[in-house]
Amino acid sequence: MENFTYQNPTKLIFGKGQLEKLADEIRPYGKRVLIVYGGGSIKKNGIYDDVKRELDRLGADVFELPGVEPNPRISTVRKGVAICKEHQVDFLLAVGGGSTIDCTKAIAVGAKTDVDMWDIVTKKERASGALPFGTVLTLAATGSEMNSGSVITNWEENEKHGWGTPYTYPAFSILDPEHTFTVPRDQTVYGIVDIMSHVLEHYFHQTQNTLVQDRFCESILLTVMETAPKLLDDPENYDHRATIMLSGTLALNNMLNIGYRGDWATHNLEHAVSAVHDIPHGGGLAILFPNWMKHVLDENNAPRFKQLAVRVFGVSTTGKSDQEIAYEGIDKLREFWNSIGAPATLTDYAIDEGTVELMAEKTVSANPEFGNFKRLTKEDSIAIFTASLTE
Ligand code: NZQ
Ligand code: ZN
Repeated sequence: MENFTYQNPTKLIFGKGQLEKLADEIRPYGKRVLIVYGGGSIKKNGIYDDVKRELDRLGADVFELPGVEPNPRISTVRKGVAICKEHQVDFLLAVGGGSTIDCTKAIAVGAKTDVDMWDIVTKKERASGALPFGTVLTLAATGSEMNSGSVITNWEENEKHGWGTPYTYPAFSILDPEHTFTVPRDQTVYGIVDIMSHVLEHYFHQTQNTLVQDRFCESILLTVMETAPKLLDDPENYDHRATIMLSGTLALNNMLNIGYRGDWATHNLEHAVSAVHDIPHGGGLAILFPNWMKHVLDENNAPRFKQLAVRVFGVSTTGKSDQEIAYEGIDKLREFWNSIGAPATLTDYAIDEGTVELMAEKTVSANPEFGNFKRLTKEDSIAIFTASLTE
């Protein structure tokens, strides 16, 4: 285990009816509030009205930025920054999934600088502060509700990049599992895949003596795999939604990876796919992760894969080499994702070999090498994307 300092300033407010705390949570920050939300799901399921009621109770001056896209775009961030500057907004409230929260993080930073936010996302310039913001999470997936990361797409340039600053932790996040009852089946599946992928990205590292962290990761994977099929059969089951929601937050609030650094190559690969094809993040991960595993597995790192295969997927070891056990574990991951209806090949999104080269270029547009468990280059990306075209 490496030395570490862990600090996470986000106040997590979890459970049924907890939106009633919204007005009191915002009060210390001011009354000019910009609500940021997506394409309208919160209007259909009533969350918008409940939020507005709380803001009325606060006596807030409310401004709105609707229409944040899944894979949120820099053009929408710029719109939000302009609203903040024009109306001297005090506080931002993201109501939605990871895309809405990530967009809000970028607006919060953009409101405090004259630098264009794309230059901050691409790390050419540094953030100098941020407006305070909170979140009302409506989809369990990214963990953005309790981390400082944000992923923004520049659609004109087909670039999608993750960035973050110490200023971009939410002040608070309200997580009511009932708010996720209306998440459609496909988005629920993508969320489950994303949560498991975050744990898996952590799990593949080269640091010794991470016994506690390994067991944390394994417990979340086992719990998500046990709960996911039950939830998909019973989407308005509070307990199952709560289990998945908490798993999503814990998977990426950087608690699982204290004392070591995970891999993150598969996220890099997926961001390149969605930068070019605008597909759902979790769908891309389901296609790519098992192929990344098969690509990087070798004699030296097989014990890590074996541990996962045995402890999480229950693979028996008798008479098998480490690599055979590892392969069985990878196949079981694919089988599980298939069983819940996740996509398995790029052709599921009508992506063929025509854009493999372009997507591979995008994986290395920020750095010529990526991935920490095993360093990868553009050639590796081409191999993984090509393998992902067919099952
Ligand atoms: O836009 P609306 O109408 O709200 O509909 C959304 C959207 O279409 C819908 N939805 C959300 N809550 C709902 C609901 N529909 C019905 N009922 C509800 N309660 O779901 C769709 C997808 O929403 P989105 O926010 O895009 O999904 P997700 O939370 O998976 O976020 C994906 C984005 O987050 C980034 C991804 O790359 C992608 O851009 N990530 C952010 C991370 C972070 N900040 O830490 C880490 C992740 O690895 C990821 O890269
Ligand atoms: Zn993710």
